[in-house]
Amino acid sequence: MTTVFPKDEDTRDSGRTCSPTAAPELAFSALTEADLDAIMDLEKRVFTDQWTREAMITELNNPCAFYVVGRSDGRIVGYGGEWIIMDEAHITSLAVEPEARGKRFGERLLIALLQEARYRGARRATLEVRIGNKPAVALYEKYGFRSVAIRKKYYQSDGEDALVMWVNDLFCPEVSDLLNQTFGAEAAP
Ligand SMILES: CC(C)(COP(=O)(O)OP(=O)(O)OC[C@H]1O[C@@H](n2cnc3c(N)ncnc32)[C@H](O)[C@@H]1OP(=O)(O)O)[C@@H](O)C(=O)NCCC(=O)NCCS
Repeated sequence: MTTVFPKDEDTRDSGRTCSPTAAPELAFSALTEADLDAIMDLEKRVFTDQWTREAMITELNNPCAFYVVGRSDGRIVGYGGEWIIMDEAHITSLAVEPEARGKRFGERLLIALLQEARYRGARRATLEVRIGNKPAVALYEKYGFRSVAIRKKYYQSDGEDALVMWVNDLFCPEVSDLLNQTFGAEAAP
């Protein structure tokens, strides 16, 4: 599978306010079966409505699906996934280890997904997110996603509503600038 990833760089910092220039290294690779133990463990710790291992294996064999893993210091710290069908990308998953948050890993995983989506011909992207998930909603809004609908009681585990969000033009200058920004040591201070 041909893929395109954002640039990853190598400085160290921590905390919610970590600047793009000080963002620690994040190395990207396409998800493989060898990563599944770590990903299932991450899913368990992060989500109440989790992907099953069988579903993830199905995803690995789905030509419309793309899953990216992010590693820092050789350890998986997050992953994300999407389906790309015609000119639309549907983000299916995005998660960062609780202890690794605030280091722009989530942001860079989202960039990886949106860059890959554009590379494969998507012009728009959509997702569902828990209505009360403020960090995720803020992240998606930062990248141009806007809420267009509410799916009532979307989450089976607790009946929370989902916001349906869309970004309608992945190639508009505002989104393109965000997707092309540089993180880490090579970014302008
Ligand atoms: C959402 C999530 C992926 C963000 O990952 P992260 O690595 O901590 O986020 P980043 O450091 O890349 O932050 C990037 C942006 O996200 C938003 N954000 C992240 N954490 C936030 C917080 N605690 N409060 C408000 N906004 C936050 C901000 O817009 C931030 O940009 P800014 O600092 O310039 O304002 C992470 O919190 C997570 O895994 N949550 C649990 C799983 C989940 O909710 N996934 C989404 C399912 S749809």
